Amino acid sequence: MDFKSTIEQEKGRFIDELIELLSIPSVSADPAYKADVLRTAESVKQFLIAAGAENAEICPTNGYPIVYADKITDPNKPTVLVYGHYDVQPPDPINLWHSPPFKPVIKDGKIYARGAADDKGQVFMHVKAFEIMVKNNHLPCNIKFLIEGEEEVGSSNLEPFLKNNLEKLKADMVLISDTSIIANDIPSINTGLRGLSYLEVEVTGPNRDLHSGVYGGGVANPINTLCDMISSMKDKDGRITIDGFYDQVEELSQQERAMLAEAPFDEEAFKKELKIDATSGEKGYTTPERTSIRPTLDVNGIWGGYIGEGAKTVLPSKAFAKISMRLVPNQSSEEITEKFRKHFLKIAPPSVKVEVRPHHGGEPVVTPIDSKEYLAAAMAMEKTFGKKPVPARGGGSIPIVASFENILGLKSVLMGFSLDTDDIHSPNEHFGIFNFLKGIETIPWFYTYYAALRKNLH
Ligand code: BES
Ligand code: MN
Ligand code: MN
Repeated sequence: MDFKSTIEQEKGRFIDELIELLSIPSVSADPAYKADVLRTAESVKQFLIAAGAENAEICPTNGYPIVYADKITDPNKPTVLVYGHYDVQPPDPINLWHSPPFKPVIKDGKIYARGAADDKGQVFMHVKAFEIMVKNNHLPCNIKFLIEGEEEVGSSNLEPFLKNNLEKLKADMVLISDTSIIANDIPSINTGLRGLSYLEVEVTGPNRDLHSGVYGGGVANPINTLCDMISSMKDKDGRITIDGFYDQVEELSQQERAMLAEAPFDEEAFKKELKIDATSGEKGYTTPERTSIRPTLDVNGIWGGYIGEGAKTVLPSKAFAKISMRLVPNQSSEEITEKFRKHFLKIAPPSVKVEVRPHHGGEPVVTPIDSKEYLAAAMAMEKTFGKKPVPARGGGSIPIVASFENILGLKSVLMGFSLDTDDIHSPNEHFGIFNFLKGIETIPWFYTYYAALRKNLH
């Protein structure tokens, strides 16, 4: 079983079809795209049917629908639930794109479009790998597809869907391609994701905007106050000062840290690629540690006052910020949100009023590296990359992964194929054709090895 030549012959069509899928702007955050998001779900369903899936359906939720399809060939085979998302982040700021975000173009071996790597391109690798396996009558596992449309907005309707569809979603594990590898010649498997607590704050000073000369100096400026409050939330060592923030944080042993440090990382290349002269973060930790095993607090957006052309002398009434905290085991999203709220109210000076509005969250996860599931992924990648993949903790979040474990009792394998430099969520998101095809080539090997390991055949 080697589908390399089939992929070589079919790659033109695979890429054309991916371009078709990427052309639909499935932005879940903005209601203006509603019809397009729904059209994308329909398109995913049709591609799954064309690939040979059965029981394909669009499952309605209180938000965007979930696409389900399966191919059950033998109850004795292991069943793999493939999860991914067809929604994408907003393309803004549009003027920084070199080509329109929903008119995919291929340049220097990469396909440029919003969603190319996160996650439509990676979902599509699974659809095409499945198609090849069906055509060649090589299906070592039963396969169920669960492709949702609200990952980028927190997956809040997927959790009830899991609870209400325990039988339908019965499987032995979850396979997800929505993460990255270290480099095209350094394959890696993600062994953890950070959790997330996301909230918005509002700081109110005077009851209306004031003349900054007439009143300035005598009344608190909520923007200045908000900046003071935010900067006080980290000390000089880059540690977050929220009361109890680190209480549950899992501290890794020197041995565990040494193991993670085996994943290659080039600090100089990292700085050069981002055009920064120095990295920054919590004292005592390396850059890869700061971006994976340590929690964070970051302002994602801040506004207030006058931001139009020219100058307007105004002392604003209000200031706002959107703040995210990335969480690590064993922090809980709800608890951290509550700790933030208490702390923020406590540090607010009497000259302002503050409000904290929680948004979506997600729990952190770590996956074992000694399981059959991990081993099958490692063997598949070694087969197609010619190199053993290294385990690497990731910094991003996929909120539903913790629920796969808590609700369905299933472990996930995070076998992604994109690169951290693919500019997901940024202008000019792209996905390497190499990575797309490598994914299609690797996935059938995963099923082959997983089925064999489950039978204890090596
Ligand atoms: N695919 C990403 C998460 C990711 C990217 C994990 C790269 C590891 C490496 C996912 O689509 C994502 O962006 N998640 C959001 C979650 C949020 C919107 C609730 C995130 O991490 O910001
Ligand atoms: Mn994603
Ligand atoms: Mn994303």
